[in-house]
Amino acid sequence: MKRVKKAIIPAAGLGTRFLPATKVMPKEMLPIVDKPTIQYIIEEAIESGIEDIIIVTGKGKRAIEDHFDAAFELEQNLLEKEKFSLLEEVQKSTNLVDIHYIRQKEAKGLGHAVWCARKFIGDEPFAVLLGDDIVDNNEPCLKQLMNIYNETSSSVVGVQEVADHQTHRYGIVDPYSTEGRTSRVNQFVEKPAPGTAPSNLAIMGRYIFTPEIFDFLGQHQIGAGGEIQLTDAIQMLNEKQSVYAYNFEGKRYDVGEKMGFVQTTIEYALKKPELKDELLEYLEELIVKEKQVR
Ligand code: G1P
Repeated sequence: MKRVKKAIIPAAGLGTRFLPATKVMPKEMLPIVDKPTIQYIIEEAIESGIEDIIIVTGKGKRAIEDHFDAAFELEQNLLEKEKFSLLEEVQKSTNLVDIHYIRQKEAKGLGHAVWCARKFIGDEPFAVLLGDDIVDNNEPCLKQLMNIYNETSSSVVGVQEVADHQTHRYGIVDPYSTEGRTSRVNQFVEKPAPGTAPSNLAIMGRYIFTPEIFDFLGQHQIGAGGEIQLTDAIQMLNEKQSVYAYNFEGKRYDVGEKMGFVQTTIEYALKKPELKDELLEYLEELIVKEKQVR
């Protein structure tokens, strides 16, 4: 069995939910406290054992490439000022892992973005990580999926439960048998209309695929929202070889929409010892004031 060593990170989306912040700044570069969201994703991939990453970019995404490149003048400046811990942080993003880039020339959907990276992947199993989901857990989310892949040699998607009113925002799985956290799946449905979801198990931006997924992505079938959907290719693959759903452990943060982004920022700030006490105090004061106003 081949080991999963490569990962695709699609980052070609327009980021319209965060305009005007994303007019020139890629949404993947928006920071959670002091680190761009995409760096959290890349660190998870590395901690899971990934050796090569390909980021699928689009127009206006140069800042991502620059971020993971050396920044000579900045490094020199930090060195001269003896700011060694900052220097270490800056160099960390350069030396993380081998990162490659490819452009998705037209915005044709997530399935198409993944398909754009097929030549880089070749005939190997691989991972896909989406930048809108950050997962916090001791054992990284992708590593958990890798364990299932290593047991089954099958594709596996990460899922978690969502509330009824949220199912229409996600790819949803219809499981037919579940053992522990792993399910076999009847059907994968992209963004079912409200009230029609077959379950509450939503696909959360972490996947491991056998290379056969490219046969189906290559059909360029148009799905929900007029786009080529990854979920549709997963369903077609599932009809040929089992694709498992794994209900992973960990807290998942939705940084792809405003409320989730703000919540993530607050929680990650509270994880920092140098910010925690002051921030808590501030939040408490704020709550008291807001209650007085109401
Ligand atoms: C994408 C996928 C969807 C998945 C979601 C997770 O949707 O198409 O299946 O549940 O990511 O964040 P998007 O959020 O890009 O519309």
